[in-house]
Amino acid sequence: MVELLEKIYSLTDKEMEECAGHLMLGGGTRGGPILDHGKGVRVWDTSGKDYIDCTSQSWALLLGYANDEINEIIREHSTKMTHIHQGFDNKVRFYLARELARRAPAGMNRVSFTVGGGPAIEAAMKIAFKNVQPSREFVTLFDSYHGSTLGSMGASWISTKSAGKFYGGSRFLPLTRTFVRIPNPVTYRNPLGVSTEEYIDICLTMTREIFQRGVSGKPAGVIVEPIQASAGQLILPKRYLQGLREICDEFETLLIFDEIQTFGRIGETFAANYFGVIPDIICLGKSFGAGLPLAGIIISDKLKGFEPDSEELHTFANPTLSMACACKQLEMFDNGVLANGRTMGKYLGDKLKELQKTYPQLGDIRQVGMHIGVEITDEKMRPLAEEAGLIRKFGFKHGIILGTGGVRKNVLKVKPPLIINQAECDEIIEKFKASIKEVFG
Ligand SMILES: Cc1ncc(COP(=O)(O)O)c(C=O)c1O
Repeated sequence: MVELLEKIYSLTDKEMEECAGHLMLGGGTRGGPILDHGKGVRVWDTSGKDYIDCTSQSWALLLGYANDEINEIIREHSTKMTHIHQGFDNKVRFYLARELARRAPAGMNRVSFTVGGGPAIEAAMKIAFKNVQPSREFVTLFDSYHGSTLGSMGASWISTKSAGKFYGGSRFLPLTRTFVRIPNPVTYRNPLGVSTEEYIDICLTMTREIFQRGVSGKPAGVIVEPIQASAGQLILPKRYLQGLREICDEFETLLIFDEIQTFGRIGETFAANYFGVIPDIICLGKSFGAGLPLAGIIISDKLKGFEPDSEELHTFANPTLSMACACKQLEMFDNGVLANGRTMGKYLGDKLKELQKTYPQLGDIRQVGMHIGVEITDEKMRPLAEEAGLIRKFGFKHGIILGTGGVRKNVLKVKPPLIINQAECDEIIEKFKASIKEVFG
């Protein structure tokens, strides 16, 4: 190890405590293990204990830790360059843009790169404003999460009372944009107690009414996660997304898919292709750079794009190294990674459903590919947030890192890397079961 890394990795507990005093965090739940290194689906802490990581680190590591093929690209490409200004072309950016357009829905051929998920949402908002005039508002769904930048925070549930109290976003509302919310068609625990089909109709009818009477002028766009991840892994019905497409066409506004969490994870590169609904803009982030920072948008050929007068200018919008890794990841998607994600995701989902027979507290299991959420509830579907938190905590003891979330904080996220094998899935189930047992006996 080089001298500096040796120095860093030999920090003592006392020194770490001192260093931690200088940190200021605005999100994320601390209190888990201090991570040292990882390989595949597994990560080790500084004491040498290992965990299967079902969070893929904010769902960004689809290929797992220290992937050999990605590391080979990093090693070789980092000796050429890691980053250049977006005003300079290079072959990696050309290649990645073409590979994305090849895989994107028909008629979506232009890509703009940016630095993170929130900025990708904002880039989509800028395109919407350019193309839908006059407009001043955006429409989003109840409980959606689109980021915590000032431009995206107002669109996210953290600015509402979804969770029973206002979260941090509300403090910055004077500086955020106007978002008009529409109901999300989630029938588990729906407020009217009607069937899924009836509830979809109600949501679409209310949406049409809101477009007619609840917005000032034309909305610039509707921003929607095809699977509302942070809300609780809520899979939106295809018929609803089709209905939303029709409403957007009718009211001449743009349909913007936030595919920042679904990219690859659902066993398909694009959720638009999975759901068979073509939006006007697709936003990408998180795992897009194969574990390195990268985000972007893909837009319809019908739209006016960015013009080169500082409409969308970021120092790190051309991270060549991340882009080279993104190219490699797309190649790996085609060579079995997505197929494995689909097979192993279904296997994990089925195993969790078996476990549900013993533990009815696993109130609802939602799975598309390796995008899996488990609601922890009592027998009346009431959320058990504290218990979900405890299961996560016991997970650390049993060697598994689970995510928690959902606006009611009672959804456990089981979202390991797509490269997982069956034995590792079985290990997740064993560790998950041991953690549940600690809480429910
Ligand atoms: C669906 C979705 N959109 C947008 C974002 C924001 O991405 P970032 O944290 O990279 O700004 C997130 C992050 O969790 C997300 O899940």
